[in-house]
Amino acid sequence: MKKMISGIKPTGELHIGNYIGALRNFVKYQDDYDMYVFIANLHTITVPQDPIEINKYLKDAIALYLACGLDKDRSTIFLQSDVLEHANLGFILACHTYEGELDRMTQYKDKKAKGAEGLSAGFYTYPSLMAADILMYDADFVPVGDDQKQHVELTRDLAQRMNNRYGDLFTVPEPLISEVGARIMDLQDPSRKMSKSDQSDKGCIYLLDSPKKAAKKIMSAQTDSLDQVKYDPENQAGISNLLTIYAAIKNISLKEAEALFTDYRYGDFKKAVAEVVVELLETIQGRYNEIIETDIIAETLNEGKIKAQKLASAKLNKLNKTLGIQI
Ligand code: TYM
Repeated sequence: MKKMISGIKPTGELHIGNYIGALRNFVKYQDDYDMYVFIANLHTITVPQDPIEINKYLKDAIALYLACGLDKDRSTIFLQSDVLEHANLGFILACHTYEGELDRMTQYKDKKAKGAEGLSAGFYTYPSLMAADILMYDADFVPVGDDQKQHVELTRDLAQRMNNRYGDLFTVPEPLISEVGARIMDLQDPSRKMSKSDQSDKGCIYLLDSPKKAAKKIMSAQTDSLDQVKYDPENQAGISNLLTIYAAIKNISLKEAEALFTDYRYGDFKKAVAEVVVELLETIQGRYNEIIETDIIAETLNEGKIKAQKLASAKLNKLNKTLGIQI
């Protein structure tokens, strides 16, 4: 069985971009792949955080994984920091990553371009840690949204570099990016990606938003004056984004979604999108409320930790020997 791995960084509440671009695919693939899904909690501290705040996001993220349908009996679900080997392999890979490669990473370049100062070394080397998360388990595929493609490409380069230098060590993984919904845009500014770190929360639908609030955000989403529901991201970014959200949740193609709404006025179209979003949130939140105060979260992480640790320690042992740093 082919192996898959992916993770989400809980720096804020998870949103429908995370769900559509990543989480729903983890759930979809868990029966057909040996699925590893983790919470990328070490990645959260690459930028300064309030410990109390991120702890709440962390707990919510695990509960949301389960509420969205991940199942500990079908997937290995774990916390990145529970498997100490991640940080260790991250350092080894950082030692094999060129400075120029990290300089070219979009996330880093964007922050620098905006004049960010005092970025941490951890933030700079973050892509090497992400490569470690993936290569540790010899994953064949990495289901992610569009914005993570560059990181998976670096991971491939690192795997190939290490294999050329030391012999066959790592499986070279492929990114798996879905056709519909790989980049959900901000509702208020559809030229920007929907993001956990949004300044105003009007453009972002969080999985834990009340259905009423979520519907309101959809109804006030930015559109245009063309008065036609068409998938045309260049000229109708807002409408195309809403169409994408609808198609992804209904699991239909963009063409099929478009056909459903010919002749619709924007107000009625938005109502239809709001309806499917509300239905999705109600289902997820119903399960979240059942799960959040139970032992299932601890049980899931415990079982996941044991399974992941076993693979990770074997991998690191082999690697340390190959590198000549173990007696
Ligand atoms: P993160 O936490 O930013 O995002 C988690 C997943 O959600 C996807 N995503 C989106 N998809 C569609 N539209 C959006 N607006 C949107 N925003 C986010 C992301 O592409 C991602 O798949 N570095 C990673 C976490 C990570 C990881 C890994 C992922 C750490 N190690 C190893 C895969 C494998 C991150 O910050 O994702």
